[in-house]
Amino acid sequence: MECKIVTIPGDGIGPEIVREACKVLDKVGRVYGHTFSYKEILMGGCSIDAYGVPLTDEALAEAKAADAVLLGAVGGNVGNSRWYDVAPNLRPEAGLLAIRKGLGLFANMRPAYLYQELAQACPLKKEIIGDGFDMVIMRELTGGLYFGERHTEEVDGVLQAVDTLTYNEHEIRRIAIKAFDIAMKRRKKVTSVDKANVLDSSRLWRKVVEEVAKDYPEITLEHMLVDNCAMQLVMNPRQFDVILTENMFGDILSDEASMITGSIGMLSSASMNETKFGLYEPSHGSAPDIAGKDVANPIATILSAAMMLRYSFDLDKEASAIEAAVQKVLTEGYRTVDIMAEGCEQTGTARMGDLIAERIG
Ligand code: IPM
Ligand code: MG
Repeated sequence: MECKIVTIPGDGIGPEIVREACKVLDKVGRVYGHTFSYKEILMGGCSIDAYGVPLTDEALAEAKAADAVLLGAVGGNVGNSRWYDVAPNLRPEAGLLAIRKGLGLFANMRPAYLYQELAQACPLKKEIIGDGFDMVIMRELTGGLYFGERHTEEVDGVLQAVDTLTYNEHEIRRIAIKAFDIAMKRRKKVTSVDKANVLDSSRLWRKVVEEVAKDYPEITLEHMLVDNCAMQLVMNPRQFDVILTENMFGDILSDEASMITGSIGMLSSASMNETKFGLYEPSHGSAPDIAGKDVANPIATILSAAMMLRYSFDLDKEASAIEAAVQKVLTEGYRTVDIMAEGCEQTGTARMGDLIAERIG
């Protein structure tokens, strides 16, 4: 198979971790007979430096023409005035929002899985963790507060800021279908999270999700209010299989879910449109403080490349081979510094990529 991949190394540790993911993909290509070709585009701070904007139309067009996009991370220290002393729509993160919208990536999947090898890094008590947890957050990514009309104005001498939260039934239906489809391949449970005791958008959310559920009689659907969900995630994370929620709630809950795995450097993510096209990126940020030091954990990006193989290219066997190689390296006791534990061997970014690539095929 020939796959055209656009890579977006981005800022901070982005270039280092994307390099390792490509190394692993190339090994998969050699072992299983596929050709992955890469075209690099700029996004985030590096694009601001080069072109004055976080994402150019040309870069977006390149991404659109690819079969899939692999992203490292964008952004710098918010104190970095070079990128942040400008209007919000010109900051690095605006590039991320623009590419999500521009590519129609409405479905964001963030798995939160506890590796037994890393269980000691989990901040929850042993009796809560039990034999571990394994959930996916399905976050709506192109609607809601992030993309609603917003402005700041002065009313009778008083400053007032307005953000609007809008969802229509089509936007809710298509993300709900994605969540139910994923749940069918897992433990067949969907927890739809909203704030239906207050918000109209949440009441519509609940109504549409219930309609979609009728087409999936095998799935257990439950509704949960977002504040309760935040609590349940740390009280009983094992109850969750697929969490389905809107953009802002998903942003917050996915950070919480990743924290309880104890290792944000391990968590991958996929953002999909209606087709098999997707953008794949680690759940963590650009970590500018450790950039260029060969200490960043490349595993989340490598696992994101595995998701790309599975969801964009239907290469299940190859995706599983990457996941198994990651598992093997952990079992053998290799760790980057963020997940380092007693008795393990510490490795840098590039060596971790080598170790994983070596264990494929
Ligand atoms: C994320 C990030 C982004 C978001 C920021 C960087 C705009 O927090 O991907 O979760 O809020 O969606
Ligand atoms: Mg976030």
